[in-house]
Amino acid sequence: PSSHGFSTPITSLSVDADTLVKQIEELSTFSDSPAPSVTRILYTEKDVLARRFVKSLMGLSGLSVREDAVGNIFGRWDGSEPDLPAVATGSHADAIPFSGKYDGVVGVLGALEAINVLKRSGFKPKRSLEIIFFTSEEPTRFGISCLGSRLLAGSDALAKALETTVDGQNISFISAASSAGYLTDPAQISTVFLKKGSYSAFLELHIEQGPILEEEGISIGVVTAIAAPASLKVEFEGTGGHAGAVLMPYRNDAGLAAAELALAVEKHVLDSGSIDTVGTVGILELHPGAINSIPSKSHLEIDTRDIDEERRNIVLKKIHESANEIAKRRRVKLSEFKIINQDPPAHSDKSIIEAMVSAAKDLNLTHKLMISRAYHDSLFMARVSPMGMIFIPCYKGYSHKPEEFASLKDMSNGVKVLALTLAKLSLQ
Ligand code: GLV
Ligand code: MN
Ligand code: MN
Ligand code: MN
Repeated sequence: PSSHGFSTPITSLSVDADTLVKQIEELSTFSDSPAPSVTRILYTEKDVLARRFVKSLMGLSGLSVREDAVGNIFGRWDGSEPDLPAVATGSHADAIPFSGKYDGVVGVLGALEAINVLKRSGFKPKRSLEIIFFTSEEPTRFGISCLGSRLLAGSDALAKALETTVDGQNISFISAASSAGYLTDPAQISTVFLKKGSYSAFLELHIEQGPILEEEGISIGVVTAIAAPASLKVEFEGTGGHAGAVLMPYRNDAGLAAAELALAVEKHVLDSGSIDTVGTVGILELHPGAINSIPSKSHLEIDTRDIDEERRNIVLKKIHESANEIAKRRRVKLSEFKIINQDPPAHSDKSIIEAMVSAAKDLNLTHKLMISRAYHDSLFMARVSPMGMIFIPCYKGYSHKPEEFASLKDMSNGVKVLALTLAKLSLQ
């Protein structure tokens, strides 16, 4: 046996990068916006087509495929000791509006290629290896991020909330799921919860979504922690009225309240004094949305994150105080202030970090320990399994936009590190 723990020489870990790139291109065609942008929203026709494509590839790789009630997809390669907790890897393939081809997808199709690499090398797993395609990592349709992995981690609160959750078109989660071929009855939601100890390890390969690896010319990022995300929904209500007839002293403009709150978010984030605190008002809608009508309602969705949970919570508290203060001063009603999620950070498992680092070293690839500022399904898988993440460089750190790009070489490196780490963990 060689130093990396199984008898296959590393030189035989050959990635079929051309096929991987072709698959990424093909998957990107299942989109509701024109290329090069990608838009793939949960349970839409394009999402269902993407799922079909991935399941067929899983089948071609000889994996046994299973889906749960919300459409998390599992492709399993049985090990020689199939009763041991398996080693899992995976990511998502949903894409926010007008985004790119690589976010999530590299961790799904790259995982499939990692399995193919191991199969071609003659490797025989001891613990089973499993690929997970997660349902709705992105919050686009129902406002809930990492929907599939949150449920896998066993959230009764989410299971309950989903019974009555609707999207922007007032389509319920249940009917959307059933139209995509998944659950028909709310009671099925909690069947998704994983049993503790189902997996001995979970790994996710992902583009960095930041500029560090590319700038420093490093091949592999070994993630040590994932920053703590939170999101809020806020609504103000005023009386509205005619834009010409209602004079300024008689207005209570819900739009201006929203504008002030957006600036307050920026101020509170900057006041934290740390570069690690971020906040974004990514949605700001005015009702009725006519040039000659004073906004009678405004709706904001606010995303804030930090590697330090307490500091992030202070920002949330200050945003709430500002919302109340603005409402009072502007005589509008704060009709909703809802915390959608307020998650703690997650830490990678020490021994998985070691396995990833030693895989990178075995493969002669430079690596760097880093944190993930974006969230990932790994944030929730860490609640039920030891977790680790592998980052690869992406062009200028671009993500969540069409210019997102990862090179064939960088993806191959990531797939190799993933394959070797899976192999090591499978034999443990
Ligand atoms: C995930 O897409 C995130 O917003 O971090
Ligand atoms: Mn994303
Ligand atoms: Mn992602
Ligand atoms: Mn993400």
